[in-house]
Amino acid sequence: MGPVGLSGDGDVLAVRAGGPLRGELRVPGDKSISHRALLLAGLADGISSISGLSDGADVAATAAAIGALGAAVESSGDVLSVRGGELREPQSAIDVGNSGTSIRLLAGIAAGCPFSTTLGGDASVNRRPMDRVAEPLRLMGAEVDGADGGRRAPLRITGGRLRGINWQPPVASAQVKGAVLLAGLFADGETVVRERVPTRAHTEEMLAAFGADVRVAGDEVAVRASRPAPFEFVVPGDPSSAAFWMVGATVVPGSEVTVHDVYHGQGRDGYLRVLARMGADLTVTPSGDRQVRLGCRWAPLRGVTVAAAEVPNLIDEIPVLAVAAAVADGPTRFEGAGELRHKESDRLRSVLEGLAALGAAAEVDGDTLVVHGGAELRSGRVEGAGDHRIAMAFCIGALAAAGEETIISGWRSVATSYPGFLEDLATCRES
Ligand code: S3P
Repeated sequence: MGPVGLSGDGDVLAVRAGGPLRGELRVPGDKSISHRALLLAGLADGISSISGLSDGADVAATAAAIGALGAAVESSGDVLSVRGGELREPQSAIDVGNSGTSIRLLAGIAAGCPFSTTLGGDASVNRRPMDRVAEPLRLMGAEVDGADGGRRAPLRITGGRLRGINWQPPVASAQVKGAVLLAGLFADGETVVRERVPTRAHTEEMLAAFGADVRVAGDEVAVRASRPAPFEFVVPGDPSSAAFWMVGATVVPGSEVTVHDVYHGQGRDGYLRVLARMGADLTVTPSGDRQVRLGCRWAPLRGVTVAAAEVPNLIDEIPVLAVAAAVADGPTRFEGAGELRHKESDRLRSVLEGLAALGAAAEVDGDTLVVHGGAELRSGRVEGAGDHRIAMAFCIGALAAAGEETIISGWRSVATSYPGFLEDLATCRES
């Protein structure tokens, strides 16, 4: 067989190590930015056009949701046009599939709308904590009911007249910040979010770029009742998707990969700093407003300590960084990583199991993930746990694993954020 083989139903991937990864890529549009572009276009009174959107299922769920809320969404080639403005009560429950970002950001908008919206998702979304958005939205005056005493989806939100709050989220989360700020666009007075640790800044950056009333000062973001104006926007590449190729290049000997047009900004560059500290041979070249070209060549790595305050800035990249840590010389500690338990899967557990399957030692000590390092990876069977980032992280690990093929089950989840992952892998292996 070739280096990769996919089962007929697309859910089981067989992958074996091969030659180096060499090539130039563009990754899909950033998932976080794509969600926000769609939601803000849905709120803007007029026609917005967005190109370069993420082609993943999560973003498709947000596009369908704004349609269900009354926006007119049309696609033509790479451009999506959205006529937004007045939102109306959806005729049925909105299903966000696997997308935690969709449900939490939509909850913020639903809280401002004078009707009832039901938001639910797949089994993974319905297990994830929703009290972190429900609580501030209730304080703002929305009615939020849900499963498990209102703590989990499906959520039923009856919105209306909101009042601004001054809120310090108990967990560092850009989704929570985003939900409260979006609700703040509908509220009387000022809505302030104070972050203990800064998270990705897309909501406030895009609200400002599209003309809403937002102010950022130190660790505070404040909004007042306003709407974005219709806009034209190109979504930059997703750094969290580029991370797979940066780690791939650094762990597969002889590799050199370049990824073009990647977003670079607050809350998204943490993995590059960690890889640099580990000794990765990285180049980061500015290529536009908050955009860079990333280059990486194989290099030996050393273990490092990642402090808890860094974790929100690399929350989605820890699974693939754990693969890099497995082959590094010496242990790597990811401190304060407990939030990983609440992602698409319990990622602390999925990472431990995946590393063990490939012959690498790791443990969880409280909220610290310790990857012992120095592993000679070997092929094995990895359970993707229905989690796109776990499946892709261990595909990258398999590329550096000796032995027969590695089998990754649950591969279909990759469609969540990166449907073209295997095509991009083929590009790097053939060129
Ligand atoms: C996201 C924020 C992060 C991240 C998720 C996307 C966003 O989640 O894990 O993939 O777009 O705001 P948290 O806000 O829960 O940390």
